[in-house]
Amino acid sequence: MATIFSGMQPTGELHLGNYLGALRQWVELGRSGEHEGIYCVVDCHAFTAPYDAKTFPSRVFETALTFLAGGLADQDATVFVQSDVPEHMELAWYLSCVAPMGELGRMTQFKEKSEQHKTAVNAGLFTYPILMAADILLYKATLVPVGHDQIQHLEFARDCARHFNHRFGKEVFPEPKPHPLTLRIRGTDGNEKMSKSRGNAIGLLEPEAAIWKKLKGAFTDPERTTRDKPGRPEICNIFTMHGAVTPAEKVKQIDADCRSAAIGCGDCKKMLAESLEVELVPIRARAAELRAHPERVTTALAEGAAKCRTIAQKTMVEVKDAAGVRGSKSKP
Ligand code: TYM
Repeated sequence: MATIFSGMQPTGELHLGNYLGALRQWVELGRSGEHEGIYCVVDCHAFTAPYDAKTFPSRVFETALTFLAGGLADQDATVFVQSDVPEHMELAWYLSCVAPMGELGRMTQFKEKSEQHKTAVNAGLFTYPILMAADILLYKATLVPVGHDQIQHLEFARDCARHFNHRFGKEVFPEPKPHPLTLRIRGTDGNEKMSKSRGNAIGLLEPEAAIWKKLKGAFTDPERTTRDKPGRPEICNIFTMHGAVTPAEKVKQIDADCRSAAIGCGDCKKMLAESLEVELVPIRARAAELRAHPERVTTALAEGAAKCRTIAQKTMVEVKDAAGVRGSKSKP
């Protein structure tokens, strides 16, 4: 059975981009029953940017809760927190010794993030893709569902697998394949990416009224300056979201009505708010239930960590064996 691995940063409140672009697809992939799914709250990756240590635990908890409420609880998926499995950091070191420096320097996310956190550029931000490669390779995952912004990191993980296997002449790691998630949700301000740090995000668990307030002011087609001007759904973020949550027949109608100016952006947003409610009501209910029983989240995480540690320790034995690392068992 192929293993799927994916991860998400513990931003606390996941947004519609995280959900529609990734989490919902993870749940979708799991439905086939053909894969073993492992999903990680990557708290150690979050150390690369400044954060408040006091609120960090609740961010990690909320992220895990949202994974479960978003649909992973109904599946046989494994959910865990990265720092519970120290082998991630251990493997990252071994991989850093086969990882090509030049490629790290070319990572778009490193360039963007070091621009964003100019005063806090640390080595971890630079070696971030190595830890990500370790996350994936530790479980010998062959399928990695990620959005477009993570594809470059995934190619890097493939290179790490290839370099390690080649250096030690053993097929320790299979090459992970990306399962590209093509949906890109832009920010309410029209920015390329909806992201909490850019302040342009709609939270997955926000109440209906708060979502509507954000949708009302959200960026659409900049050329549709008046109600009677025809719109271009293909460049509109509201239409992209309709494609994800509104029934196909209705999406077709919205497409035609926008192009002919039969509906305005306000009408279109109202319909989106309705579709989102259908999608989000059960998620909110599951989240409320989990919040009332936090032990369900912590138990799932503890069980997930125990299972992952067993797999990770087995892989590390193979890694060290291939690399001739025997520690105190080294013989003359
Ligand atoms: P992160 O936490 O930034 O995002 C998690 C997932 O959500 C997708 N995503 C989006 N998709 C569509 N529209 C958006 N606006 C949007 N924003 C985020 C991302 O593409 C991603 O799939 N480095 C990773 C986490 C990670 C990981 C891993 C992923 C660490 N180790 C191993 C896969 C495998 C990250 O920061 O994702």
